[in-house]
Amino acid sequence: MGRPKISVIGAGNVGASTALMLSQMELGDIVLVDIVEGMPQGKSLDMMEMNPVIGSDSNITGTNGYEETAGSDIVVITSGIPRKPGMSRDDLISTNTNVVKQVTENVAAQSPNAILILVTNPLDAMVYVAHKVSGFPRERVMGMAGVLDSARFRAFIGMELGVSVENINAFVLGGHGDDMVPLGRFTTVAGVPVTELIPEARLEEIIQRTRGGGGEIVKLLKTGSAFYAPAMSAVEMVEAILKDKKKILPCCVRAEGEYGVENTFVGLPVKLGRAGVEEVFQIDLSDSETKELHESASHVKELCEHIEGLGII
Ligand code: APR
Repeated sequence: MGRPKISVIGAGNVGASTALMLSQMELGDIVLVDIVEGMPQGKSLDMMEMNPVIGSDSNITGTNGYEETAGSDIVVITSGIPRKPGMSRDDLISTNTNVVKQVTENVAAQSPNAILILVTNPLDAMVYVAHKVSGFPRERVMGMAGVLDSARFRAFIGMELGVSVENINAFVLGGHGDDMVPLGRFTTVAGVPVTELIPEARLEEIIQRTRGGGGEIVKLLKTGSAFYAPAMSAVEMVEAILKDKKKILPCCVRAEGEYGVENTFVGLPVKLGRAGVEEVFQIDLSDSETKELHESASHVKELCEHIEGLGII
């Protein structure tokens, strides 16, 4: 049997944090890959030396190659460049398309049955690249964005109301850009719709802060983008899959007609289990919510067409 095998590609801020949290939760053995010589090896050894303190028996291996990733159950792809102040996620497109293409080819060759979770930005477009390059079915290629965007929304609502974040359920759909769609109507505090607890104008401000949540951190850090919340959000997806939890989480998947969106990669509520995306959950959206989702999806579609035009994949 053995433990599940999880590979994390990119051992930078997001990748290393992901490996750390996976090991803390003892979700499996971990292989950490980066192009920088010695760096994934050094970080992995450091985490192996952390494990006795936290009581984890996860093995963590660092490498610059892909042989060690062979037979992975899940591969989390975080390799690529992050944003600097003044940049949009879309500004990363040609560099990260090249990186994600090369990484996906290597990963798919070593682990043809793996489930891929993309974290590299621009997220939705990178899921498209990995889906196309791997040739994997949509069930096994997804992106981490909605969990993070929802977590940001929950954090801000928690700060506003002074209640436990555990009481807050939030839903953010659409692409992982400033036109994401935080759904106030489906966001609840101990079961009560948040629209009944926060006045409309104030809620709109919180929604805007959620949309710009990534940018707010880029501005503060100046040299890179957020990584703790992104890493933990990817780990929640890994856990839902490996434990076959059938957990409903907003994830980027290829829409195949759901919500009136066709052949586009966009954040939708999905059921995550051992097979990956086991179902796209359909909820009734209002006309204005549907319109916002379609606008967000058409932005992703334009990005994917732009990638097609680059001739990289
Ligand atoms: N193969 C493997 N690793 C690579 C490759 C490649 N072809 N190209 C780059 N990398 C590695 C870099 O060497 C670096 O260690 O990816 C790592 C990225 O780490 P950081 O620069 O710290 O960036 P991080 O904050 O982790 O963000 C990574 O996730 O959230 C997104 O927008 C973010 O696209 C960015 C990605």
